[in-house]
Amino acid sequence: MIGVFDSGIGGLTVMRELLRELPEFGFVYLGDTARTPYGSKSPETVRRYAREDAQFLLDRGARLIVVACNTASAIAADDLRRTFPQIPIIEVVTPAIDDAIVATTTGRIGVIGTRATIASGVYEREITQRLPKAVVTGAACPLLVPLVEEGWLDTPETVSIIRTYLQPLHAAGVDTLILGCTHYPLLEAMIVQEMGERVTVVNPARAVATTVRERLER
Ligand code: DGL
Repeated sequence: MIGVFDSGIGGLTVMRELLRELPEFGFVYLGDTARTPYGSKSPETVRRYAREDAQFLLDRGARLIVVACNTASAIAADDLRRTFPQIPIIEVVTPAIDDAIVATTTGRIGVIGTRATIASGVYEREITQRLPKAVVTGAACPLLVPLVEEGWLDTPETVSIIRTYLQPLHAAGVDTLILGCTHYPLLEAMIVQEMGERVTVVNPARAVATTVRERLER
């Protein structure tokens, strides 16, 4: 049994890819809609919630945990690995970085996510460790999660908010943009359109599913 959790419905974008990649496995999914959003909470709170979410899944028979939430991945993955050393923990940050490093030609990489994810600096740190010439531009997009949760996926208001949020990434000349929040793949078509065809938009969900398969094979 594979346990998957997110702060809400966004992790279902990862779940969809996991079901495609691993149809032979059983899954248990926790969307913590009672306490969402995580992206505006303190690091201590996110770590506590993540521990409780993982324990919930382990109590239901999970033997591998997928943290299908960027905020929890950015802030709580190390803490989860220390708390549950016998359980493989797969987070969504590293697979996205792997894809972005392959995709970029200029080293100018953008990342959008919640306030907590961008404030953690994890993408910038890990990308520049592996690709020292990289210039990483992060942008917090706090309004996008509530819009997705409300189902406002293609309203004019959503298009206009996305355009405003993506402006600094255009200005930074990024050639690759990481969707650093599990809700954003639901807005992927609009983000792709706004960024233009010269920018590669990385949706981590597919890379996460491949990472889980590789881990299970090992
Ligand atoms: N699932 C969260 C993430 O991927 C976004 C929603 C939230 O703020 O809890 O960062």
